[in-house]
Amino acid sequence: VDKAQILVASNRGPVSFSVADDGSLAFRRGGGGLVSGLSSVAADIETLWVCAALSDADRKAVAAAPEGRLDQAGFDLGGARVRMLDIAPETFADAYTWVANSTLWFVHHMLYDTPNKPGFDATFRHQWENYRSYNAAFAEALVTGAGEGAKVAVQDYHLALVPRMVRGRRPDLRIAHFSHTPWAPPEYFRMLPTDVGRELLEGMLGADHLGFLSSRWADAFLECCARFLHAGVDRRARTVQFGGRIVKVGVHGLGADGAFLRERAEADDVAQRRGELRELVGDRKLIVRVDRTELSKNIVRGLAAYRELLATRPEWRGRVTHMAYAYPSRGDVPEYREYTAAVQRLAKEINEEFGTDDWTPLILEVNDDFPRSLASYQIADVLLVNPIRDGMNLVAKEGPVLSLEGCAVVLSTEAGAADDLGKNALLINPYDISETTEALHKGLTMPQEERRARCERMVEAATALPPQRWFTDQLRALG
Ligand code: G6P
Repeated sequence: VDKAQILVASNRGPVSFSVADDGSLAFRRGGGGLVSGLSSVAADIETLWVCAALSDADRKAVAAAPEGRLDQAGFDLGGARVRMLDIAPETFADAYTWVANSTLWFVHHMLYDTPNKPGFDATFRHQWENYRSYNAAFAEALVTGAGEGAKVAVQDYHLALVPRMVRGRRPDLRIAHFSHTPWAPPEYFRMLPTDVGRELLEGMLGADHLGFLSSRWADAFLECCARFLHAGVDRRARTVQFGGRIVKVGVHGLGADGAFLRERAEADDVAQRRGELRELVGDRKLIVRVDRTELSKNIVRGLAAYRELLATRPEWRGRVTHMAYAYPSRGDVPEYREYTAAVQRLAKEINEEFGTDDWTPLILEVNDDFPRSLASYQIADVLLVNPIRDGMNLVAKEGPVLSLEGCAVVLSTEAGAADDLGKNALLINPYDISETTEALHKGLTMPQEERRARCERMVEAATALPPQRWFTDQLRALG
């Protein structure tokens, strides 16, 4: 069996499958900056990408592939070598839905409604066991797939235990772990059971290099290591001394893939959507948002700000349209289902309150349509990106890149992207609805020249670190 010199591990891989009407398997390559960036690297250097089967259709594909190697089963993956793991459904659900998405995601994005949640009980302990098993399955695949001295790049909170597991068996490997989320400050992280928190930190410290998207998240991680492991933390050099080794913590921002986006936006399907949108919006101003329907994206407060704009500045009634794209996400998590319902309720209320026979103030779209998102970026006057907390947020960077006339970006200070876009965006506190309302108004009324100039500066900052560079930087950081 061929061994790889570079390995990537992530829960969600570069392809997903679905069963077509005739029962055959159809697959599509995943979108998004991370996947497209990694795919281009993966195709030209000998990289093995290890990921999990996320659906029954994925499992079917794995069953048809020798040892889960999709590239050896006749699927055209553009040169990438992919091993998909069929992890037992119950183990996978406990690890992905319950530990990763209902616990770790909530901790790092500070989403708990603390009088009610969290509560770590016997059920959680069982899920935590399965999180360990799921991490062990990835570790096993990496250990067996890696050549002597290979580099391993482990991605995100799903796989926090993998670095230590891999190191224990293959000390010859160089191991990186990258967090695409924020990291919780100690005062919040301490909600986790003490042993679980320690195991997560120790698991990650099995790596040689730990990457974060913002210095804010990297520094929070260092504080957690100092507080919960009493590790030797050098805050200036960003290193952690633990278990006789020194682990480097690095900040690697991630930018938009400008070249890919511009090329994709040339396609006919985008032009067609743009035409439809222009007809719909007419000569009104356009506010756009594009998110997964995700608690941390703060969609409800964003809609509340739009309602306040229409209520307190009646001059906008009939003169603005808000396109809100809220794509389905993590429907197995009860809080996400409730949140989706809350978003839909509020959208309906706004239209009932302000809508007229010839004006629909808000158009909420829940079906994922990538070319329509790109077309919306092209013609938006204002892009609203107001997460409560966000590792980076690429929407804030992709929007300006595709804007034809220059758009204003209303941006939460709590997104990693605020580090890079800074004052060229209109920065807001995501909890402050009235401040968000005022920023929307400011964006809508900003003189064209200023809007264009700010947008140009944002494009420069947004494309400074394309995903390919982000990935090669991580490998270089491994030495
Ligand atoms: C965030 C995480 C990724 C994840 C993505 C989509 O960006 O950092 O690891 O893949 O959300 O979430 P999903 O649960 O659908 O993979």
